[in-house]
Amino acid sequence: MNLDEAGPTEWTARAEVGVGPWRGEWPSDERYDPELLAEGDRRNVVDAYRYWRREAIVADVDRRRHPFHVAIENFQHDHNIGTVVRTANAFAAAAVHIVGRRRWNRRGAMVTDRYQHLEHHPDVPSLAEYATAHGLVIVAVDNTPGSRPVETVRLPRECVLLFGQEGPGLSTEAQDSASLVVSIAQFGTTRSINAGVAAGIVMHTWIRQHADLSQAW
Ligand SMILES: C[S@@+](CC[C@H](N)C(=O)[O-])C[C@H]1O[C@@H](n2cnc3c(N)ncnc32)[C@H](O)[C@@H]1O
Repeated sequence: MNLDEAGPTEWTARAEVGVGPWRGEWPSDERYDPELLAEGDRRNVVDAYRYWRREAIVADVDRRRHPFHVAIENFQHDHNIGTVVRTANAFAAAAVHIVGRRRWNRRGAMVTDRYQHLEHHPDVPSLAEYATAHGLVIVAVDNTPGSRPVETVRLPRECVLLFGQEGPGLSTEAQDSASLVVSIAQFGTTRSINAGVAAGIVMHTWIRQHADLSQAW
């Protein structure tokens, strides 16, 4: 492939990321996008997907997505959702569920939402209905009384990891919908960590427990 000496991702030391126009004879595979072949591909995608059409990339990830879902409450327009979507994309989560307001701040997603399945639920009961219909265990993540340390818990393989928003944290309704509540151990003075950071830690806990690391990039 014509990778123009790029590293494993587009985040190389070069000023301009990605690759320029395809050099030489164009590949005939229909996964390639003629416009990207002609113009170059500067998107935030790993090099394996350079010049691929978006639909082809999504279809390829769909074949190997992990069976964990991520949900975040968005009753107050939480600004961490973009970060959560980007991390869910990096770990090939099955889907990200926004509970509450449909609109969310896409900035932190860095366009990764184009490759990530996103679902909206107006409230917690409709998320719970989805989980039941898809055989998913809801795991609430918050440092509330009675929560179990994520550092020692075995997370269910098919699950929804449910996060609260900055300020109020997980609603009581969300905690009640869960079969398990897990917390992240803290040692300092702050009551809690950022919801996007918490989501990254718990998603990675799932990866450490269940993912086939030989399939990572
Ligand atoms: C900023 S926290 C707010 C709520 C927190 N319960 C409090 O007492 O301040 C927002 C969300 O981040 C996640 N979170 C932050 N720190 C956490 C921790 N130590 N353990 C588990 N989840 C945490 C949870 O999903 C939580 O709902």
